[in-house]
Amino acid sequence: MISEKIAQLLNAQIANEQYAAQYYLSMSAWFHTRDLDGIANYFRVQSKEELMHGEKIFDYILDVGCEVQMQGIEKPPFEFENELDVFERALAHEKLVTKSIFEIAKVATEESDFATVSFLQWFINEQVEEESSASLLVAKIKRVKDNTSALYLFDQELAQRVFVEVPSAK
Ligand code: FEO
Repeated sequence: MISEKIAQLLNAQIANEQYAAQYYLSMSAWFHTRDLDGIANYFRVQSKEELMHGEKIFDYILDVGCEVQMQGIEKPPFEFENELDVFERALAHEKLVTKSIFEIAKVATEESDFATVSFLQWFINEQVEEESSASLLVAKIKRVKDNTSALYLFDQELAQRVFVEVPSAK
């Protein structure tokens, strides 16, 4: 049902999502070691979401009768300059993910692979939300600056985030 090229791109996207999961876990650890457990929680939940994204693609590849080929992923950075640096990197990474999703959607459209185009619509919508949330957090942390009370409140806010599993693509 899907071409070899689309299967390869989707397999690579599983690795992209898993890299994002590792990257966010790295960010989570950075905040945890600085006693900002609320922000650490935010990134840990984000990491779980990325694993779920990878699994959605994994399921789709199997559903269309193709071969899942797991790939290795690079070691993500674990040193960051400051809080703002982390949030800016998170936003930049989401933009990269959006680009790779769009690229697969573009190829699928060119191939009239409407099943994959339809499948990717969930990811396209998700990326709008992901970039919006990441941008908002960059704006908020910029306002916090060196105000420790504001940072405490920001940390409390992000402590509220919980992981919500989204049903599989089936
Ligand atoms: Fe799976 Fe944050 O994109």
